[in-house]
Amino acid sequence: MKQRQNSKAHQNKVTGEAIWQWRHLAILDAKQFGISSREVDWLLMEVAGLDALALHLGSYRQLDQIPLKRPLEQLTQLWQEHLYALLPLQYVAGSLPWRDLTVQVNPSVLIPRPETEFLIDLIEILIQKQPDLAQGIWVDLGTGSGAIAIALARLLQNAQIFASDISEAAIQLANQNITAYNLTNRITLLQGSWWDPFTTREITGMLSNPPYIPTQMIEELEIQVKNHEPHLALDGGQDGLRDIRYLIESAPIYLCSGGVWLIELMINQSRIVAELLEKQGSYENIEIYQDFNGIERYVLARRR
Ligand SMILES: C[S@@+](CC[C@H](N)C(=O)[O-])C[C@H]1O[C@@H](n2cnc3c(N)ncnc32)[C@H](O)[C@@H]1O
Repeated sequence: MKQRQNSKAHQNKVTGEAIWQWRHLAILDAKQFGISSREVDWLLMEVAGLDALALHLGSYRQLDQIPLKRPLEQLTQLWQEHLYALLPLQYVAGSLPWRDLTVQVNPSVLIPRPETEFLIDLIEILIQKQPDLAQGIWVDLGTGSGAIAIALARLLQNAQIFASDISEAAIQLANQNITAYNLTNRITLLQGSWWDPFTTREITGMLSNPPYIPTQMIEELEIQVKNHEPHLALDGGQDGLRDIRYLIESAPIYLCSGGVWLIELMINQSRIVAELLEKQGSYENIEIYQDFNGIERYVLARRR
C-alpha cells in the first residue's frame, strides 16, 4: 500500500481495523447529513496517508500500525464539528495538498485556495522570459500558512524570501510549514502590518493574496468560510480594496526598478486596480490575468 509521507513525526498510531471501523461510521454519518462519502476518504488520505485505492479495497484493514496526524478521538470530535457546524474539512484534517506541497492549516489561517496556485505559475512564466528575476529578494505579504512563500522558495532557488503577516498565530503556523520543508534558512518570517517590519529595499518581487472581500459581503459568504476562516484574512474594508490600495501606494518604496508587483483579487476588481496602478505613476507593464474559470483575478505590474 502506498503511504504518502507527511511532514510531522507521527506519534499517533492505530490499527487498520480501527480506521476501518471509523470510516464505516463516518460514511454512515455522511449519508445521514447528505454529504459525499468521498469527504471521509479525502480526510483519511490526508490524516492517515492512505490512498484512494486502499480505502476502496479495504486493504489497509490488516495493518498493525497506521500513523495518524491527529489522535483518532480528536479526529472524531473535529468530524462532528464538520457535520454539525460546517467546520471546513481541511481544518479537520489539519492539512491539505496545495501545488506539490502538503500545507498544514488551522482556523487561524485562510485555507490556501487552488486559484492562488496560479500566482506561482505566473512567476514561473515570468522568470522563463526574464531569468535575472529569479534571484534577489522576493516577499510574500500576508503569508497566512506560508504556502506562497514556500512555493516561491522552491521555485526561486537562488532568491531570498521574506514572508510577513500581521497575525502572530499565522506566523507560528507558517513557521511550522517552513520548518517542515527545511526552508528556515531561505525564508525569513516577519510579524507586522504589510511593509512595516521590512527594513530591506531593492526588492525584486512582491506577491500578495490580501484580504479583498468588501465588509458587507462577508455575511453572504458560505457558512464554512464566514464562521470558520479568519475575517482578518477576508475583510478588505468597505469596497474590498483597502489593503490593495495601500500595497499600490507603498510598494514603490520597496521594489527595485523593474521589480514585480503581483496580487490576487476577486471578480470585478482587476480593472479598478489596474487603473489605480496606472494613476499611481510608478508602475508600467500592467497586466491582468484570468483564473481557470476565465475570471480576471490577478494583476501584475512592474516598478518603473
Ligand atoms: C487572503 S489571506 C492569504 C493567506 C495566504 N497568503 C494564502 O494565500 O493562502 C490574507 C492574509 O493577510 C493577512 N493580513 C491581513 N491584514 C494584514 C496586514 N495589515 N498586514 C499583514 N498581513 C495582513 C491575514 O492575516 C491573512 O493571513
